[in-house]
Amino acid sequence: MSSTRKGIILAGGSGTRLYPLTMGVSKQLLPLYDKPMIYYPLTVLMLAGIREIAVITTPHDQEQFKRVLGDGSQWGISLTFIVQPSPDGLAQAYLLAEDFLAGAPSAMVLGDNVFFGHGLPEMMKAAPEQGGTVFGYHVSDPERYGVVDFDKDGTVKAIIEKPPVAPSNYAVTGLYFLDGTAPERARAVQPSPRGELEIVTLLESYLHEGSLRVETMGRGYAWLDTGTHASLLDAGNFVRTLQERQGLQVGSPDEIAWGQGWISDEDLSERASLFGKTGYGAYLKGLLRSDKH
Ligand code: DAU
Repeated sequence: MSSTRKGIILAGGSGTRLYPLTMGVSKQLLPLYDKPMIYYPLTVLMLAGIREIAVITTPHDQEQFKRVLGDGSQWGISLTFIVQPSPDGLAQAYLLAEDFLAGAPSAMVLGDNVFFGHGLPEMMKAAPEQGGTVFGYHVSDPERYGVVDFDKDGTVKAIIEKPPVAPSNYAVTGLYFLDGTAPERARAVQPSPRGELEIVTLLESYLHEGSLRVETMGRGYAWLDTGTHASLLDAGNFVRTLQERQGLQVGSPDEIAWGQGWISDEDLSERASLFGKTGYGAYLKGLLRSDKH
């Protein structure tokens, strides 16, 4: 089933933490084992039933993203490309995408966030259209993220960006379900001391009204980090391990589009031919013969 929600993939940023890897190519286009990184967050939105998606990139990387993703019609979705002139913060995405959203509720995913787990589509579809929903995930190094501060009875008191001393181990993942008021609220966000329109300030506006749900993404889910050279390699190895063990793809937009009924058997077969003799092409061909068919 398709959603009335629109999607945003935020894939700009300078990528300096991965230099020299990202001096010539956007972080979100780096390989994560056998696919460009952006395939993984893209397929998360597709699994939520979202078919209208804006991809926000730096001005100079936009062309490459267009080459990799096209207009989305090959997957039965529509992709709109929006430029972020400079990396002024995550909340700015809602200002840049305001016309695209046209009042619709949205799901935004960061282009470098990778999720894997049984029940992810249902978890996302359960997010109400009113208010906001974000996901808290237990990590060993919460100081690197937005962190949830709970009071004694488990109510969320605050979400704090990269606190020197974390109030809990629950990091807020880069997947945000916000209602149609997000752009209007983003306009009220003032730049932080580091000069960014912080996502946590936008979330605070929902929190203060009691309209922010913080769902726990349990330990059965993988939320992988791609922020350092080592974690990038680990995430690639994770995908390889799963794919080789199961014989199933992680993050294939072709498979998901076909599974959702957004493209036909013929379309999938054409896509498979495009990938020629690669394992990925053979996998797509195999789907058409499989019992899932
Ligand atoms: O990954 C989840 C975390 O993402 C959250 O827990 C934090 O609350 C949130 O602020 C963010 O933290 P990061 O330290 O990962 O933010 P970073 O500045 O690295 O940006 C995340 C991604 O968004 C990165 O791939 C680049 C992209 N980006 C970032 C900024 C600031 C943009 O496209 N535009 C921007 O203006």
